[in-house]
Amino acid sequence: MDLKISSTLSINADKVVTGRTCVIGQSGSGKSYTVSVLCEELAKNNIGFCIIDTEGEYFSLKEKYPLLWVGSDANSDLSIENTDLIKLATTAVEKGVAVIFDVSEVSDPKEYVGEFCSALYKIESKLKKPFLVIVEEADKFVPQTGKVVKEVEEISRRGRKRGLGLMIATQRPALVNKNILSQCNNQIIGRLTIQNDIDSVKIFFSKKKDLKALPELSPGEFFVQGDLSSSQVVKVRMRYTKHKAVTPKLVAKSAIKIEDLSVIQKEITTNIEHGVEAELEELKEMIIPPLITKEVAYDKIERRKKYYIFGPEVKISDFYLQLHPVYYCTVRYLKKKWIGTEFEDIHTYFDGLSGDVLGLKSGFKIKRELKEFMGLNSGSLRIFDKLSNSKRSLTVDELAKNTNYTESTVRESLKTLYDEGLVSSSRFGRHLYYYAMTKSKLPDIEKLAHPVIDLEERRIAANKTDFSIDLKDIREFLKALGDKVELTEYKKVYYPFYIAKVTGYKKLKKIKIDAVSGKVI
Ligand SMILES: Nc1ncnc2c1ncn2[C@@H]1O[C@H](COP(=O)(O)OP(=O)(O)O)[C@@H](O)[C@H]1O
Ligand SMILES: [Mg+2]
Repeated sequence: MDLKISSTLSINADKVVTGRTCVIGQSGSGKSYTVSVLCEELAKNNIGFCIIDTEGEYFSLKEKYPLLWVGSDANSDLSIENTDLIKLATTAVEKGVAVIFDVSEVSDPKEYVGEFCSALYKIESKLKKPFLVIVEEADKFVPQTGKVVKEVEEISRRGRKRGLGLMIATQRPALVNKNILSQCNNQIIGRLTIQNDIDSVKIFFSKKKDLKALPELSPGEFFVQGDLSSSQVVKVRMRYTKHKAVTPKLVAKSAIKIEDLSVIQKEITTNIEHGVEAELEELKEMIIPPLITKEVAYDKIERRKKYYIFGPEVKISDFYLQLHPVYYCTVRYLKKKWIGTEFEDIHTYFDGLSGDVLGLKSGFKIKRELKEFMGLNSGSLRIFDKLSNSKRSLTVDELAKNTNYTESTVRESLKTLYDEGLVSSSRFGRHLYYYAMTKSKLPDIEKLAHPVIDLEERRIAANKTDFSIDLKDIREFLKALGDKVELTEYKKVYYPFYIAKVTGYKKLKKIKIDAVSGKVI
């Protein structure tokens, strides 16, 4: 399938949807215009995508195309504050719906974007259906200095394998996180005049002459290159829909709505309208018993609400117990003693959503982030372990000798690690040398030990979150920690949180209270 972006150039839809593309150009160069043209083409071809709209300027696409506009405007299809983002992500990916995720009016866009991207990533880990995330003003969400929205980074590094592509637009490429920028295999680059910015896109140009042409480009003129096309300047075609419409009311009212749109709207909103209470079920589960009563937790929120964060006119619209999935594992391994060796058992807890190691002694705490290692087989993890503990980069040959794997196994593992963004390589002489891309390391098995905590089998009214990490992944992970490491026993248990939904004038906020420690999270 082709996307016609100019009278002279059509680009391959697959390359855009599952690739990593940057759209770069100073203010007024025509980035948003170009992104809108791409959105028109995607929508025309019924390809699912989501545009993170920071300016509230994309709703006019609805003049012609059935996009779902999630925002704060009275005319948006769904209110962003009241939308269940997991449902939204699931619907968007499953049905290939195009979404305008309009964060122009929310006070904490990064939080919303993080939550939505995380939901998209999770659902894509299962469905692997091609879907594109477009992020406007990428310098705000994934800056070079300061906190990046790690969910966007995650999509950049590991989305491709899941069918999830990323397109970032920015007027200040010099301020975008370099790792994320350098991963863009597709580039659409327009007028730039600030030297720092020109320098930061040098990596994408093989000819000095092209780089020198950047300040001379007119609005709508862009270099299109990378995997999209052989490097060339094109004048992006005119939009079919209005650019920067200023009267959202008129546009939204004249919008064509797909039949499905109202159904989708309903599906996504019912949960909120009827309140979560209606869905609460009496469950019989193995849980870590809450120490804080519902009343105490409720009181905490009431007090907090009165004294800071919120204004006076807010209220708690919903309050319930949420059970969070945890794997409780018993692991046997060979421990070195003063004399000889001996089998030893330890207990450890893994987060059922991320795979991270948990410390639950005094409240819910992530002790060790392992998210990025989940889903890999023990072979790949061993190879990674060797690389991350080596002072220099290693060749395939050296890795094979080091691990006793065959060269072809090593190569296969390296490919997986490469796809996951965990290793990279550089050529030196005749050989490729591999190195770890992240500072995280596999932990020492003994560091996972956790004292046993009390569990209770309870019938309790609560909402339950499903496990999304497979036990198989935990098993593979443990196997990678040593030759004789084995998962001997496990239980699926739940950790309790109280959730309060607090509505203010325009915003809905979720507050989480650890039901064991009483800490507000
Ligand atoms: N391909 C194009 N064809 C015609 N006009 C364009 C094109 N691209 C940009 N423009 C003009 O340039 C203006 C700025 O474009 P815009 O995409 O909003 O810039 P920015 O890079 O700041 O997002 C638009 O309002 C439009 O008038
Ligand atoms: Mg713009």
